[in-house]
Amino acid sequence: MTKKSDLAWWQRTIAYEVYPKSFLDTANQGTGTIAGITQRLDYLSSLGVGAIWVTPCYKSPMVDNGYDVEDYRQIDPSFGTMADMEELIAKGGEHGIRIVMDLVFNHTSDQCPWFRESRSSRDNAHADWYVWRDARADGSAPTNWRSIFGGSAWAWCEERQQYYLHTFAPQQPDLNWENPDVRQALIDIANFWVGKGVGGFRIDAITYIKKPAVLSDGPADGEDGMYSVHAATANTPGILDFLHEFKAAVRDGRDIFFVGEANGVAAEDLGAWVGERGVFDMLFEFSHTHVPMGAAEVWCRPAEWRLTDLKRVLTESQEHTKENGWYPIFFENHDQPRSTVNFFRCEGSAAAKAKALGTVLLTLRGTPFIMQGQELGYDNRVWGSVDEFDDLQTRSQYEFALGEGFTAEQALAACNRFSRDNARTPMQWDASANGGFSSVTPWLPVHDDYQQVNSETESADPESPLSWFRRLAALRDEREELVTGDYEELMPSSEQVYAYRRAGERSTCVVLANLSADEVSYDTLLVSGMTPLVGTHGEALVGTLRPLEAVVFGS
Ligand code: NOJ
Repeated sequence: MTKKSDLAWWQRTIAYEVYPKSFLDTANQGTGTIAGITQRLDYLSSLGVGAIWVTPCYKSPMVDNGYDVEDYRQIDPSFGTMADMEELIAKGGEHGIRIVMDLVFNHTSDQCPWFRESRSSRDNAHADWYVWRDARADGSAPTNWRSIFGGSAWAWCEERQQYYLHTFAPQQPDLNWENPDVRQALIDIANFWVGKGVGGFRIDAITYIKKPAVLSDGPADGEDGMYSVHAATANTPGILDFLHEFKAAVRDGRDIFFVGEANGVAAEDLGAWVGERGVFDMLFEFSHTHVPMGAAEVWCRPAEWRLTDLKRVLTESQEHTKENGWYPIFFENHDQPRSTVNFFRCEGSAAAKAKALGTVLLTLRGTPFIMQGQELGYDNRVWGSVDEFDDLQTRSQYEFALGEGFTAEQALAACNRFSRDNARTPMQWDASANGGFSSVTPWLPVHDDYQQVNSETESADPESPLSWFRRLAALRDEREELVTGDYEELMPSSEQVYAYRRAGERSTCVVLANLSADEVSYDTLLVSGMTPLVGTHGEALVGTLRPLEAVVFGS
């Protein structure tokens, strides 16, 4: 069995996602700054964090909050300067924390100089850097693909009299990875950041970079007669050649990691994507985040789902990476609603739910990724009208729901449940105005609960989600098997409890997390010879889990 000391630093640590616009505003402007992250390094150390994934903070028009990059070598002035970033990297290093940049390489902003030139004519130095196609004979878009944010995936360009492809928003034109100059430019950018001392990269929307050789219509999969661009282009054969080239030029021989955002990689293909033969050290794979939708055809009509569905998917992913590769463990990110709503169908406080699911997050095999605020037990916010949302995807989802026949009230309720903005509300640092995030009105409303749910109040409360996350981070550090141990699911048919064993060479832990509001009994043989190491509800009861109680036993 692997020893902890044989693992790479990024396998032994805990990662934390910072959405910089909402983390801490040190400039009295209502949006967060890089200097704000530096100010909170002690806080992150107290959670055992060794890597911070900073979502894009490059110069950007911010149509998609930085996922539309204008210049990959500059920090957007709203976040500060390159000197601020260099300071974060250096001070992070002093705290044993490495900075992970987000590479948005499927597309740029339409304001990126490459695109501005590309769109200006059909024969310029960047003419072939994006995916351009002629209109059909009737002037309509080249294919019937629907973009991920809704509407056609093609936008018309007057100057070139051609369409360009945008998998996401029209302001996010897709790069043409077939062009070796594009690939080299992206390699150079990544190496620019390696030169700054970053600890790795989260690589955005990576499954879309390769398009099929012939772009053609797909069968309509919605009322709009369109076909999803995801189905049309995700994971196109040949994509791994591009990625191997990129990895060889950026990753090989360096002590950094690559985590890919890889929606749509099938389980049987994982071996080619992660691990020794693969291109990524870890892969964000989304099958478990799809479970709360049930078998729904469309996002706004979620179907019933059961805990056993979630556990099966999590167990499968644990098994896939048993021999090869490593997973990031996550239940939240900036594209997901809060996990206290998303993964629970029962009554109970957000704090109790955050602690129960946080136990799973920090004890499965893989590198836990905590989304900012998750450790405080954030809940979804209540959004009173569609105008309160900033996110372009939520706004288009609202229109989509109306198109599906929803009333305005129903469409708003669906957006409340699923909006990405739930994960993006400002961090709550204390009980002062704006939760201590900013001295002025923040860009997105602070959650109403900030007087109770904030890091200062929770630090002083041993029963808070924050104290629980800290305790578990310490336990993960103490108990080698929580990092290296084998995973074996227990009680697989339970619809209330997620239970598993993490067996190491010398010691073993058993995790029992009651993710329901029922009191549940369990067979004490599962933990025979073991003692409770930590529990969310104080002293553990033998053979019984109280509602939303989680206990970690150890031998
Ligand atoms: C995935 C990112 O996580 C999301 O926030 C973004 O909107 C899209 N990729 C487009 O870059």
